[in-house]
Amino acid sequence: MVTGEPVLALRGVSKRFGAVQALTDVEMEVHAGEVVALVGDNGAGKSTLVKSIAGVHQPDDGDIEWGGRAVTIHRPQDAQHLGIATVYQDLALCDNLDVVGNLFLGREIRHFGVVLDEVAMERRSRELLDTLSIRIPSVRIPIASLSGGQRQVVAIARALIGSPKVVMLDEPTAALGVEQTAQVLDLVERLRDQGLGVILISHNMADVMAVADTVVVLRLGRNNGVFDKSSTNQEQIISAITGATDNAVTRRQARGTEGPQ
Ligand SMILES: Nc1ncnc2c1ncn2[C@@H]1O[C@H](COP(=O)(O)OP(=O)(O)OP(=O)(O)O)[C@@H](O)[C@H]1O
Ligand SMILES: [Mg+2]
Repeated sequence: MVTGEPVLALRGVSKRFGAVQALTDVEMEVHAGEVVALVGDNGAGKSTLVKSIAGVHQPDDGDIEWGGRAVTIHRPQDAQHLGIATVYQDLALCDNLDVVGNLFLGREIRHFGVVLDEVAMERRSRELLDTLSIRIPSVRIPIASLSGGQRQVVAIARALIGSPKVVMLDEPTAALGVEQTAQVLDLVERLRDQGLGVILISHNMADVMAVADTVVVLRLGRNNGVFDKSSTNQEQIISAITGATDNAVTRRQARGTEGPQ
């Protein structure tokens, strides 16, 4: 298990949508250089958790801590300014633009604030993809002509332009084949090696076991176990996901303030 101060922490986060209690008292920590897999059945609250951190939803209760301090994330821009980047499942890339155009969409580099500086953007794009060892035929190729895996790595690269400290990936391998999945998992490992904290949502246990350091299980909107990957196995995690084992930890227990029963 990665130790030290977490860069990002959730303390007792709850979120309700009308009659649906999507999250109840959820705890999670992410450290620099750690891959945290967030797993759970459909409707367990994974995307709601990510969107609460990303500023899409506001938690009803609990705290989000950044570098040990409680922060309020009202809008997605607030999360970006803190250094939290999110790649959603529907990648939101523009098919008709090339790789450079997608990487810099909405934050184009301009000459004198007007004319697009295509040369600078192309150079930055190459540098970024090189640092991540991402290989695509050309940065001037339209997104529409890339494979699913290549599109996914471009979407992740796009999230890295603002130099975030934490990257959240919601099901980045869901639509990918074996080789493309390997490419994305490779990239996740490089992000960790560069000291980023990564939150990876995945239904695929093989992916989780391949790259996660820590596995956080949600069940029906509550924590049902935090596992150190190196000392756990797939069966234990699946049992926690399905509810065959009850690893629910209350907030007070998590903080070590609850006495013996
Ligand atoms: N915007 C919303 N309005 C109302 N209910 C919502 C909203 N978003 C999520 N929910 C509900 O909250 C619960 C948790 O949903 P969430 O999408 O977080 O689950 P998930 O773990 O991401 O599931 P999946 O694996 O299917 O993506 C579900 O019952 C869902 O119907
Ligand atoms: Mg989801």
